[in-house]
Order: sequence, then C-alpha cells, then structure tokens
Amino acid sequence: MFDNPNIGILGLGHVGLPTALGLADIGWNVIGADDLKSKAQDIANGDAPFYEPGLSEMLIKNINSGRFSVASSVEEAIDASDVIFVCVGTPQNDDGSADLSQIENAGRTIAQNSNTNKLVVEKSTTPVSTSLRIKDTLRRYAKENVEFEVAVNPEFLREGTGLYDFFNPDRIVLGVESEAAKNTLLQIYLPLLDQTNPSDISDKEIYEAKSNDKFVITDVNTAELIKHASNSFLATKISFINLVADICEKSGSDVSKVAKGMGLDPRIGSSFLQAGLGFGGYCLPKDIKAFTKIGEDLGVDMSFFREVDNVNIRRVDQIIDKLKGKLWVLRDKTIAVWGIAFKPGTDDIRESPAMALIEKLIEEEVKLNLHDPKAMEEFKRTSLSEYSNIEYFTDPIDSSNNVDAIIIATDWPEFKSVDYKNIKDAMQYPFVLDARNLLNPVEMLDMGFDYIGVGRYS
Ligand SMILES: NC(=O)c1ccc[n+]([C@@H]2O[C@H](COP(=O)([O-])OP(=O)(O)OC[C@H]3O[C@@H](n4cnc5c(N)ncnc54)[C@H](O)[C@@H]3O)[C@@H](O)[C@H]2O)c1
Repeated sequence: MFDNPNIGILGLGHVGLPTALGLADIGWNVIGADDLKSKAQDIANGDAPFYEPGLSEMLIKNINSGRFSVASSVEEAIDASDVIFVCVGTPQNDDGSADLSQIENAGRTIAQNSNTNKLVVEKSTTPVSTSLRIKDTLRRYAKENVEFEVAVNPEFLREGTGLYDFFNPDRIVLGVESEAAKNTLLQIYLPLLDQTNPSDISDKEIYEAKSNDKFVITDVNTAELIKHASNSFLATKISFINLVADICEKSGSDVSKVAKGMGLDPRIGSSFLQAGLGFGGYCLPKDIKAFTKIGEDLGVDMSFFREVDNVNIRRVDQIIDKLKGKLWVLRDKTIAVWGIAFKPGTDDIRESPAMALIEKLIEEEVKLNLHDPKAMEEFKRTSLSEYSNIEYFTDPIDSSNNVDAIIIATDWPEFKSVDYKNIKDAMQYPFVLDARNLLNPVEMLDMGFDYIGVGRYS
C-alpha cells in the first residue's frame, strides 16, 4: 500500500506517546500531534507530560535522532502522514457506554485534511463496530479522489511499563479489511520483532511475517472485541479473587496462599490474582462498562460483567468499614494514606481506587496525611485537593507522625522497605490497614502493629 510510510500519531497521551517514540526508535519517521496545544508544545520541547519509566530519555533520544517530531497542528500531522494511528481518549458516558466523540472528531479531521490516500489505524479502545463508523465518517467528509482504509490495532501496553511493553509485545492484533492494509501494518511492526531496519524490509519478509505467532490477524470487529474481552477478563480475575478474599476473611484462611495455589496451575496463571482495593485506571473500569453496554445494546445478557464491576465498586466501602471497625468514629482522626496513583510506576490517578478511598475519607471528615512517590502533583489538580484538612508529605515516614492509622492504597514497592519499627512509636495508634496486601502480616504483628490486610488472617 505504501513503500516507506510516514507515520502519524493523533493523541500523544499514555498510549500515543510511547507508541510514537517506540515506532521512531525502531526506525520509522513519526510525526505526532495532540489537540491540546500546551501538551504538544511541552513534548516538542522534550518535556514528557506524564511519568512513565524511561519516557523522558526516549523522548529526547528520538527528537535528537530526527525521527520523531511534533506537528504544530493536528492538520499538519495528517497531511504529512500515510498511516495514521488514532490514539485519542475514549472516556465513559454516564450510562457506561464509550464516549466516542474524540474518535469521531479525529476521523472527521483526518477526512477534511487529507489530500492523499491514508490508512487510518484505530489504536484507541473502542466497542465492536466503531471502526466501521469511522470508515463511514471518513467517506462522508473525504475530499474528491482521496481514499481511506481503516484498520484496528488495539493497544495492550500497561502504564508503568508502557515502553517495555511496546518493545516486548506478547501479541500484535491487526484487524484489517484488505491485503494491502495487512501488509502495511506487518511492515511497520516487523522491525520490532526481527530488528530489521525499515528500509531493508523485503516483500518476502512481509509475506513470511504472517506466520509469526505474535501476529493475530483478524477482521476489524474481531480485533475490537479482542481488546474489550481481554480487559473484561482481567477485571473478572481481580473481582474473582476479591470475592475469594471475602470468604477467606470469614473462614480464617489466607487469600494470598489461595492465589498462589491457584496461580501455579498454568490454565489459571498467577497474574491479576492480587486481592485488595480493586481495579482502577483508564482501562479496566471504563472498558468493562463499555463492553457490558455494547453487549446489552446487542441483546446479550451481560449481568455477569455488571456484577464484576459491582464487586469492584464495593471494595472501597469494605476498607472504610474495616477502618471504622478499628477506630470507630472517623471524624477528626488523622489518617495517613500512602498511594494515590491507580498502580505503581505511574502518576495516573484516573479512576484510581485510592482516589475513591480518599473521597470517602473526606466525607468522614478525617484529617488526611497524603503521600505518593509520583502522583501528588496530579492529585493537587483535582477538586478533592480543595478539602481543607490535607497535608502532603514527600516522605512516608514523616506522614505517619501522630496518625491513628496508615492505609496502603497503592502497592508502590518502596512502601515495603519503609523502616516500620521506627514509625510505630511516632503513631498515635500503630494501626496499618494494608489495602493492597503489600506487607508481611506476621512481621507487622511481631513488630507490635495492629495490622489488617485483605483476606488474610491477622
Ligand atoms: N492508558 C492505558 O494504559 C491504555 C492502554 C491500552 C489502551 N488504552 C486506550 O487508548 C486510548 C487512549 O488512552 P490514553 O490513556 O492514551 O489517553 P490520554 O488521555 O492519556 O491521551 C489521549 C490524548 O488524545 C488527545 N486528543 C483528543 N482528541 C484529539 C484529536 N482529535 N487529535 C489529536 N489529539 C487528540 C488528548 O488531548 C490526549 O492527550 C483510550 O481508548 C484507552 O482506552 C489506554
């Protein structure tokens, strides 16, 4: 379809920026654009707009190599590209469905500003059949004699390991409608798998790439479903183990041992079997809701997935109940919350269970001592930061002075190496509520802490 395609990336967020830099790093010429001008300008200046391990270095490296640049406008990036990856946001509507307005806007802008044929690749997570709507939009607004192909290439990177995941994909899903689109995408991804320089790729290599196990080549609807089904399955695993944790608590068993015993079975696997405060972030909560909604719209009974989400939503209340069970009235108590990000390795607080927990603690009128290694600045930009009784601490140890409890809300590994012996006496009451099962209960009890985890005897 294109011999040596120029690649455009629309949306330089948590998916778009690592993707753009990764593709530039393997040898492609990539031009990125974001309709948030200040963000685009920061990136053009070499300032990564969010924290992701290795991202700043990768940004500088690829700006300096000349293979990554940021367009001064979305229109400029469209005009300069042959293959355009759409990486814009797909937030959630009030009814749980995906808000596809950014996708529609991107499609319309591409059509109105394209003077040559393009392959438009949907990378954002979208409900089944969205790419067909994009295709309609492109046709409706296309200029004369300009043709578009649409493909779906869902993204599976995880925040916190975004660049690692780009360079080490466990699968690359390509939903295509033609041989030409398939070959173009195989060509783009080949250098990632066999270290070939883009200019050295032969037709034979592209042909042979089809049999590489990493590629899953499907129609466009199936590709969209693979992404929604994958995330809904991961969410299901987490809610599953959280329900098992509830049974463990009632029966005096240990969910971490149950998870270990289950996870060693290769049919089950050990990942996503960590009981705790539940799933969060920009993917699982909204994707399971969108998957449920699209299923219901298509007439399928999705009550199973609704319950997976409900189990998750209840986790925060359960932690508040545990806190009240220990401290009784919460008003005016001082609580240290360690962790605001939805997971370690990122400063992303979107749909973070820790944020939901902090909101409930504010409703209870506690005094909050907050600490997160990376996400404190993000928190300060939210309306929750308007609560008058918050103090911020760059050091978790300082945050524990005179508190009635510490809650571990994000499993940052550095919380494991805190010198707990040293902080115990400084606390008003040495209670640690470990909502992520990060610490060893026996060690904590031995040190004299009142310690509660999730689904583990204490
Ligand atoms: N965050 C993740 O871990 C992750 C992983 C896999 C898939 N996804 C999916 O990828 C998509 C993007 O997620 P994200 O986390 O990168 O979102 P994000 O909010 O970090 O980034 C989206 C970016 O798109 C920009 N944008 C919106 N409309 C635009 C337009 N018309 N032209 C140019 N830029 C535009 C926004 O300004 C923003 O910077 C979503 O569909 C998400 O579900 C996210």
